[in-house]
Amino acid sequence: MASTPQIPHLRATATSKQLIVNGKPFLILGGELQNSSFSSVEYMNEVWPNLVANNYNAILGSVGWEQVEPVEGTFDFAVLDAQIEAARRWGLRIILLWFGSFKNGLSSYAPAWVKQDNKRFPRTKLRSSKDGLITGDVLSVFGEESMAADARAFTQLMRHLKKIDGDHATVIMVQVENEVGVLGDSRDRSAAAEEAFNAAMPADMIQFLNSDWSTKTPKFQANFKDIATKTFSQDMSWASLGGPAEKVGELFMAYHYAHYLEHITSAGKTQYPLPMYTNVWQNYADEDADMNAPTIAGGGNAPGDYPSGGGVIDVLDIWQTFAPSLDIIAPDIYLNNYTASCAKYRHNNQVLFIPEQRRDEYGALRVWAAFGSYQCIGTAPFGVDTVNYKESPLTATYALLAKVSRHILTAQAKGYASVGFFFDEVSADGTDTSEPVTAAFGPWNLTIERSFVFGKPAAGAGMVIYLDDKDQFLLIGFGFQVSFESSDLKAHFTGILKFEECDVEDYETGELRTVRLLNGDETRSGKSCVMPNVKPDYGGFPISITIPGRTGIAMCQPYALLN
Ligand code: DGJ
Repeated sequence: MASTPQIPHLRATATSKQLIVNGKPFLILGGELQNSSFSSVEYMNEVWPNLVANNYNAILGSVGWEQVEPVEGTFDFAVLDAQIEAARRWGLRIILLWFGSFKNGLSSYAPAWVKQDNKRFPRTKLRSSKDGLITGDVLSVFGEESMAADARAFTQLMRHLKKIDGDHATVIMVQVENEVGVLGDSRDRSAAAEEAFNAAMPADMIQFLNSDWSTKTPKFQANFKDIATKTFSQDMSWASLGGPAEKVGELFMAYHYAHYLEHITSAGKTQYPLPMYTNVWQNYADEDADMNAPTIAGGGNAPGDYPSGGGVIDVLDIWQTFAPSLDIIAPDIYLNNYTASCAKYRHNNQVLFIPEQRRDEYGALRVWAAFGSYQCIGTAPFGVDTVNYKESPLTATYALLAKVSRHILTAQAKGYASVGFFFDEVSADGTDTSEPVTAAFGPWNLTIERSFVFGKPAAGAGMVIYLDDKDQFLLIGFGFQVSFESSDLKAHFTGILKFEECDVEDYETGELRTVRLLNGDETRSGKSCVMPNVKPDYGGFPISITIPGRTGIAMCQPYALLN
């Protein structure tokens, strides 16, 4: 009897969840296409080989509402079908992005019959200082017909996917909408929005406000600290809630966007319950703004400078509560502190997936932290079809991650059995501002720092996995070194018993083989396990003390003398 194929799904682990594809945990080494690429079979035929050479195992590509339902009720999935078949031929999985009612805080992907019918599909009204209210290029979330029409289209899409892909699992996840929220104002001011804002809040929102705030994000608690001790009565309106007006506007929009997306997502899941998530445009100007990133002209800190109502950390609890069919609220991390964002989006042990991030070296270094320290199920640099694999820093990074993904997945399933880190390029004047990373596993305290060279230190990144059953460590990556200290109070000496360069024999099982025994200069004479860069800079020093990194994988065993 033919067995029913397993639908890709999320499975709980000790502290998070893992994506299961064909019965096995799957680490998404993803890449997102430019917005328009997936609409053309001809164009994609040119880029598939480059994507394979870049070592992606999953491609994030969009399907627009206007593309599949150009005429109301008439669906055309021909291009999508061809892309899915092509992906299968190239051995790649797909994460499908549904650009329905919302894309980057606007409604540019809605079909013409939606865009042109402002009565049936009303627009968001925005406050403008000069002219009173202006019409936004975005549907109002208070448009019941918009929500219903989007849900119908999404339902058709999911039904179709099940039909053509249910036996293959080429499509492994679906993104619902893209970076939703209101731009240009903190909230919708259309007539329907005003009515909702001034009416009694929905009962479930009152219940949310009267629930325990200590479990909500620190940002939420800080925004509404002035009303924290209030009792919220059933007849209270959003308008009379109190707290900063812009933040109330954001809360109001978050509740209604979450409701809108919940309607669409749950409708789609009735047909084919793939894991679903929505992605979030971050506030680029708050305390998490990354000082190393370029400044955005006009990018402010207020809701509306970034899409108001999207799942930023301030309103993440709203999204988690009112859009339960979304498995993940996922941050797009371009210009915010990467690790701080990873940590925050693990709120309530939420699964971390990074659907968009930078594709440069800055981005490539940081994925190690996501996978190693935050149980991330996948990362995806944006714009992967417009960079050649030979120039992409992700090519080597993903090649190594692909080799060791079984080990990463095993460590992730245990909970906190690994640590990921990165050391950026040193500044032009040679100053190295990176701090060593410390971690503790079993009886060992680890110090991880940039690897030693006589010349200019290079960027480095990787992860360390603790194999508790063997009391050994798997070191993965380049440009770092690890030293160990026993935490046993009786220990009067800690050293390195074994350090071996390894390679992966079998990607599926992760089976390792020893390539070289490392010792001597390679441990800085017993002090640390060095994972060198591929081209360490000798800086003119006449003795070649540092060897070039090769496999980027090593096993090491520390020991301590206790008596
Ligand atoms: C974030 C969006 O989600 C993507 O679709 C893309 O537009 C990028 N920004 C780059 O502009």
